Amino acid sequence: MASPFCCTTLVLSYVSIALVVTIFPTLGTGSTRLVTTSELEMEAKAILHLDWWSWHSNDTHKRCSWVGISCNEAGSITSIDCSRFAVSGSISPQICALSSLEHLDLSYNNIIGELPQSLGKLTRLKGLNLSRNFVQGSIPSGCGNLESLKLLDLSHNRITGPIPSTLGNLTTLKMLNLSKNQISGPFPSTLGKLTNLKQLDLSFNQITGVIPREIGNLKDLSELNLSKNKLNGSIPLSIFNLSRLSILYLDSNLLEGPLPQEMKNLKALSFLDLSSNNLIGPIPSQIGNCSNLQELSLSNNHITGSIPFEVFSCPHYTLDLSHNFIEGEIPHQFDNDLYFQVLDLSHNNLTGMIPAYLWVSYVLNLSYNSLDGPIPGHLSEFSSDSFWGNKYLCGNIRGFSPCPSTSSNKLKIVEIILPVLCFLAFLALGVLLFLRSRAKDNIPEPNVTKNGDLFSILNFDGRIAFEDIIEATNDFDIRYCIGTGGYGSVYRAQLRSGKIVALKKLHRREAEVLAFDKSFKNEAKILSEIRHKNIVKLHGFCLHNRCMFLIYEYMARGSLFCVLAYDNEAMELDWTKRVKIIKDTACALSYLHHDCHPPIVHRDISSNNILLNSNLEACVSDFGTARLIDPDSSNQTMLVGTYGYIAPELAYTMVVTEKCDVYSFGVLALETLMGKHPGELLVSFSASSSNNIMLSDILDPRLPLPSDRRVTKDIVFATTMAFACLRSNPNFRPAMKCVSQAFLSRKRPVADRLQAISLLQLKEHGLYMDDEAKIQSQMSGEIVELHASSSS
Ligand SMILES: *[C@@H]1O[C@H](CO)[C@@H](O)[C@H](O)[C@H]1NC(C)=O
Ligand SMILES: *[C@@H]1O[C@H](CO)[C@@H](O)[C@H](O)[C@H]1NC(C)=O
Repeated sequence: MASPFCCTTLVLSYVSIALVVTIFPTLGTGSTRLVTTSELEMEAKAILHLDWWSWHSNDTHKRCSWVGISCNEAGSITSIDCSRFAVSGSISPQICALSSLEHLDLSYNNIIGELPQSLGKLTRLKGLNLSRNFVQGSIPSGCGNLESLKLLDLSHNRITGPIPSTLGNLTTLKMLNLSKNQISGPFPSTLGKLTNLKQLDLSFNQITGVIPREIGNLKDLSELNLSKNKLNGSIPLSIFNLSRLSILYLDSNLLEGPLPQEMKNLKALSFLDLSSNNLIGPIPSQIGNCSNLQELSLSNNHITGSIPFEVFSCPHYTLDLSHNFIEGEIPHQFDNDLYFQVLDLSHNNLTGMIPAYLWVSYVLNLSYNSLDGPIPGHLSEFSSDSFWGNKYLCGNIRGFSPCPSTSSNKLKIVEIILPVLCFLAFLALGVLLFLRSRAKDNIPEPNVTKNGDLFSILNFDGRIAFEDIIEATNDFDIRYCIGTGGYGSVYRAQLRSGKIVALKKLHRREAEVLAFDKSFKNEAKILSEIRHKNIVKLHGFCLHNRCMFLIYEYMARGSLFCVLAYDNEAMELDWTKRVKIIKDTACALSYLHHDCHPPIVHRDISSNNILLNSNLEACVSDFGTARLIDPDSSNQTMLVGTYGYIAPELAYTMVVTEKCDVYSFGVLALETLMGKHPGELLVSFSASSSNNIMLSDILDPRLPLPSDRRVTKDIVFATTMAFACLRSNPNFRPAMKCVSQAFLSRKRPVADRLQAISLLQLKEHGLYMDDEAKIQSQMSGEIVELHASSSS
């Protein structure tokens, strides 16, 4: 019988989504060996003892076809994959009879009891995953005999006692995860022999003593997480020789001593968290050499000195230096704006002004310092909490006094003369309008109701006359109203022909407001020129100043937002339908961006603006704020869109590009899969404090995890795409054309087990799309460059 890994290795070249793939590179017929009949009998007995398949009868003859079991050609069990099978029971010592076993995955179950010593006899075992169970007792020293082991994951259990030093014999190990247990005792220096290790996670334990300097031998290590232990002494300098390290978490320990200059050697470092220790001294300026650093947290230490400007020059998304003794000014010798997602410098002794080049998108905390001068206007959207405890700051924020004006003449002109001029201009305008409206009232109105002259009917089967609309809605009676938006109401109208249409009617009062009037006409203009199966169809419109309405195709199920909000409806929206909604939206956006001339940017993609028809198929709607990209202008604009979907760069560039829609699409795609707006996840993910979140943890809990492999792959794929679209740098987001085409292509990532895929993996392995994204950005090269130059 074929091992399930045969297929996973095939796809390896494509993308290695799960670490499992790299860990079991070559299994297959080669692993078959001679097994005696008595050995097979013992396997059958062991299976009964293990009691994880209680729903099967006691007849073990067909055990190779039991769910989760794979055998080799000789009929000997090579793999048990019972992750999330709600298996309860213990691990019987008889397990050692499974002499061909190479892969044992019982993660996310209710396994209790202790690990048997005999586990150590499974010398062919390559992967052992018992994470997220209730395993007790200590790790048997016999585990050190598992000489083929590449993955050992015992995280999220109730394991106590020390880490056996024999684990140092598992020299083929690539991943060792013992986090979230109650493991105590020292960090064995023998672990320094695990030179193939890529990932080591011992976080959330009670490990004491020092970090052995032998850790510097783990040359392949890319992720080291020792946070939340009781490690003391100083950070061994050998750690800084680990040139492949991209994640280093040593936070919440008792580490002491200064921050070493050698930190500069960690060239691959993306995430560094040394917070909540007893580290002292200044921040070494060399840290600025870490060109990949995205997150730096040194909070809650005893750090002194000033912030080296090199620290600010790193491409941080998150910088947390709070609760230290840092003094001096926030560095300001920069020509360009600096952009952070999270910036926390609170509870220090910083002085001087807040530099105006500083832009922050999610979290800003400068509280409890000694900063003075004005709060830059663009930061005043943050609440006063962000600035509290700085006595001499001023600005237009509640709790702060407004800044004193300088008394130059120029300013006086602006402050006094200009408002007077404006007032006079408005007065003149008002008089003019009044006279005009008087004049107009005298002109007889064209008879709107009798003929449909003011109608434009597009591509519609049969004519709709104005009377039809009035009749069908009883002159826009409230009974037919199915929704009210900011500037108008939506009505459902059944025409005489039986056809149902939706009417969006601008309120009379709003029709007189220029902005609403403009966006209404904008929508009519744009929608009447485009046709796409996933863009809501405009059947016609009436743009008379007495009565403005647009006639649309009726979308029976309303907005995606509403469908996701109600449990019953959300459950109707199964995984296949959800993936299709994401795919269809991508298709519509690709059309707008790449097939329309000039390209159209929607600017307000959100779950409110995705409408579903009776088959729960998606259409993009609401083009009130959409814009044609004019290659001759800078495309600078007012900020529009829906909070929670707006691309971060729009906050400071105000330049509309297609990539703003791509970002909103990313949020929408995640929302569709999660069943709610990703909210916090966007923050925590970009700040990487959520590395351990598994994909299965974020999927809409109202739907069962998919059993179909193809659906699983689609979900993994859609999530990968979503994360690529959410990249902070707009140039690294894929073009919608690529996203849409990738959905159409049959390529899908490996996704055997949704539970084994972490969000971090999806984010990192999204890299395979980069080549396509590059090609795409060359295709739309002019536009991208144009925006880049106009924004600077
Ligand atoms: C399997 O055997 C055990 C005892 O050997 C017995 O208690 C149990 O009822 C049997 N189960 C089935 C389904 O035959
Ligand atoms: C670290 O803690 C251990 C006790 O866990 C203690 O014996 C040792 O002296 C401490 N070492 C340092 C450098 O503080």
